[in-house]
Amino acid sequence: RQRKPLVVANWKMNGNSDLVQQMSDALSVLKQPLPEILICPPVILLTDFPKHQNYKLGAQNVSEQHSGAFTGEISADMLLAAGASHVIIGHSERRALYGELDTVISQKVKVAIDAGLTPVVCVGETLQQREEEKTLEVLARQLDAVYAAQPYLLARSVVSYEPVWAIGTGRTATPQQAQQVHHFIRQHLAQYDAQAADVLRIIYGGSVTATNCEALFAEADIDGALIGGASLKVAEFSAICTMA
Ligand code: G3H
Repeated sequence: RQRKPLVVANWKMNGNSDLVQQMSDALSVLKQPLPEILICPPVILLTDFPKHQNYKLGAQNVSEQHSGAFTGEISADMLLAAGASHVIIGHSERRALYGELDTVISQKVKVAIDAGLTPVVCVGETLQQREEEKTLEVLARQLDAVYAAQPYLLARSVVSYEPVWAIGTGRTATPQQAQQVHHFIRQHLAQYDAQAADVLRIIYGGSVTATNCEALFAEADIDGALIGGASLKVAEFSAICTMA
């Protein structure tokens, strides 16, 4: 495979220093070859992870501002200083629960990349949008908001397809459904930078488990997974990493 698989743990607002230790210990004994592994805990736990491990660290959000009077926000430089190399941007929970619009998501991607972080840019349709057959239109809008005016950002990004109806519901997209969308995303982004789109990692998120991940990873355009619930279970997350 030309694209190295990427497995991302999104702990969301869960976990503590005990889980940091347990997860780190479990991952450290996994045998090669491994995918690229990325753990995104709540930011306050980033500095609890031991250094120089066989996984990388990321945040779940970043400010679109550099510094200043922005109460409660955390900048890209601060994340880097805390050990993060990546940051999830535009997760559907940020979009739906915290009102993040395409414009701010686009700014965050630019700020993250300028600072030297790799963004994991999340896109996905709601159930209503899928039922109204608007999936591809919604995805195109979300992608264009980031890359149309700044196509050079594509070569430094990871994209995650997360159908909102599959997140935390136990209802995963079928491998065929996901592959169809991933293929569309790659083709759509090729208009901005064909070479970057070819090597872009497009990962899938939404009720991924140790049981369903292999079939997803077998699809040509699915380059890994963004995992919520199952990423909090040490044995299951380790197993998923070995199957990617
Ligand atoms: O970021 C992860 C996704 O929201 C998927 O969450 O694996 O709990 O469905 P989930």
